[in-house]
Amino acid sequence: MSEVKTYPIINNPQYEPHIDEDTYHRMYQQSVLDPDKFWSRMAHQFVDWFEPWEEVSNVDFKKAEISWFKGGKLNVSYNCIDRHLKDKAEHTAIIWEGDDPDHQRYISYQELHDEVCRFANALKARGVKKGDRVCIYMPMIPEVGYAMLACARIGAVHSVVFGGFSPEALKTRILDSDCQVLITADAGVRGGKQVPLKANADEALSSCPNVHTVMVVKSQNADIAWNEQRDIDYNEFKKEMEAECAPEVMDAEDPLFILYTSGSTGKPKGVLHTTAGYLLYTAMTHKYVFDYQDDEIYWCTADAGWITGHSYIFYGPLANGATTLVFEGVPNYPTTSRFWEVIDKHNVSIFYTAPTAIRALMAAGDEAVKKTSRQSLRVLGSVGEPINPEAWEWYFNVVGEQKCPIIDTWWQTETGGIMISPLPGATSLKPGSATRPFFGVQPALLDTDAKELDGVANGSLVMKNSWPGQMRSIWGDHQRFYDTYFSQYPGYYFSGDGAERDADGYYWITGRMDDVLNVSGHRMGTAEIESALVLHPAVAEAAVVGYPHDIKGQGIYVYVNLMQGQQSSEELRNELVAHVAKEIGPIAKPDKLQFADDLPKTRSGKIMRRILRKIAEDDVENIGDTSTLAEPAVVEKLIQEKL
Ligand code: PRX
Repeated sequence: MSEVKTYPIINNPQYEPHIDEDTYHRMYQQSVLDPDKFWSRMAHQFVDWFEPWEEVSNVDFKKAEISWFKGGKLNVSYNCIDRHLKDKAEHTAIIWEGDDPDHQRYISYQELHDEVCRFANALKARGVKKGDRVCIYMPMIPEVGYAMLACARIGAVHSVVFGGFSPEALKTRILDSDCQVLITADAGVRGGKQVPLKANADEALSSCPNVHTVMVVKSQNADIAWNEQRDIDYNEFKKEMEAECAPEVMDAEDPLFILYTSGSTGKPKGVLHTTAGYLLYTAMTHKYVFDYQDDEIYWCTADAGWITGHSYIFYGPLANGATTLVFEGVPNYPTTSRFWEVIDKHNVSIFYTAPTAIRALMAAGDEAVKKTSRQSLRVLGSVGEPINPEAWEWYFNVVGEQKCPIIDTWWQTETGGIMISPLPGATSLKPGSATRPFFGVQPALLDTDAKELDGVANGSLVMKNSWPGQMRSIWGDHQRFYDTYFSQYPGYYFSGDGAERDADGYYWITGRMDDVLNVSGHRMGTAEIESALVLHPAVAEAAVVGYPHDIKGQGIYVYVNLMQGQQSSEELRNELVAHVAKEIGPIAKPDKLQFADDLPKTRSGKIMRRILRKIAEDDVENIGDTSTLAEPAVVEKLIQEKL
């Protein structure tokens, strides 16, 4: 690692960074020596409170009990909107860029206020109260943000489900948190193609009897079925709604939202975030990690259905009174210059995207980038998966023309906000490293005996203490919260990732240590895909592993053992691939599917994934010991028949 090139901090003469190197070290020390004092100061600076808190933090990792700012009263939508109206009513809060390059909308903070209040009143009119769960299954139109903020305004708990998920996945999530209201659109549009959201919702709801209201935002003029009892045409309904709605007074620890994410077991986990800590942490990280300066245009390309969309399209930027760009489309429509054209069109200063998009655009060639100006760019961010040094260099040299630092941010749905990341004015960069911890974050690397490793090391990445943005529980299953994150290494939060630390104290994330894949920056549980496969009548048994993929980071490799009497065929292979896409969503579509007469198992019947992974990775020399297998010959056959 000593040969890695280090890039010095880029000094941009036009900007005084919020945090320079000395300030980083000073503030970091304060944040870990007296965390309560530090966070108390930040909470005064970043959040408007209706009533002060009684206790800054109360954390016990041994019991998985975490609270921040207990007793404090506030409202997230008030913090993201109302408090800016005094100075910024006419300032643009949201720039919406449609899938079609001719479509755009500019929404001021005053308009955002009015739209959110109308949505909040509409929810109230349908009986939604504080604490009720509301599911949001939407395309990337401004209404997805209005709906989220409207829930926050009245104290309802939103659960956004990514619009690319299937009816089945939507149903499971609605049922798990007992959402009784669903907000959706007639259809979405991405890359010129319609996504049938309402039709998917109708299918999901046939098994969700408790859903009494579906608010439908008609935006595509799509041909949809209509249920008079249940469906509401939101654009008509909102005409009767007042543009004022008093924000509900929420306790710091009241739930703000649930967001489902994949784990190593089949059922997705409802990650629960609460009010004050999440708001503070997203606001503060947004300002410091991207060095956001007043009046800048900021663009995060994530979807609202993922945590990145929650924290860094809506909550963090809006809490800071920023202008945030919401993009409906995809990176390569109408052409592979789209991202760079949007940057020029709206004068974007800060751009935050995923390595998978960077790799795909890199493969499309430099010309598509070079024909655009990109002079407005100042900071380039990366999130969701490790960024390989080659993609890092391309992002830095070609997109940013060596003028913009690459901010590689490591974090998780569970952490609420960015945990390990450079700061533009404070950190020299090494391609592929997320560098150093954010304020208040104390990472450690543990060996398999749970011993903390010093200095240069490689181990399980854990956190020694809490930070305000940390998840508080798994919806409806606190025991699972404890078991997943706190049981393996008692007294620590375990991220599920492995990491290395170099001689400069920089962290290098090495990837998941559990059965979770990261496909195009989307988290997928192998068990989820396996469960979907065995639902198919032809499948007896399935095992799913990841393998290196040039664009996606990881690809999905599936081994399928068919039922007695079933014949493998190309047709069946296609059918099984389509079956997974239908059960979970297109993002879970296997890249490779190998039929196997048998899978390698231990004598106790456990599938040896380590071996399957090595075969999928084309690394059979390092397959290791197969002597504990019930039938070692199985492995030879799998290698011969490898795709
Ligand atoms: O393995 C890490 C990887 O993505 C996982 C979290 O996925 P999710 O909860 O979907 O959140 C993604 C957006 C925050 C992590 O456990 N990951 C995320 N960011 C990075 C990363 N791996 C390496 N480098 C990163 N910058």
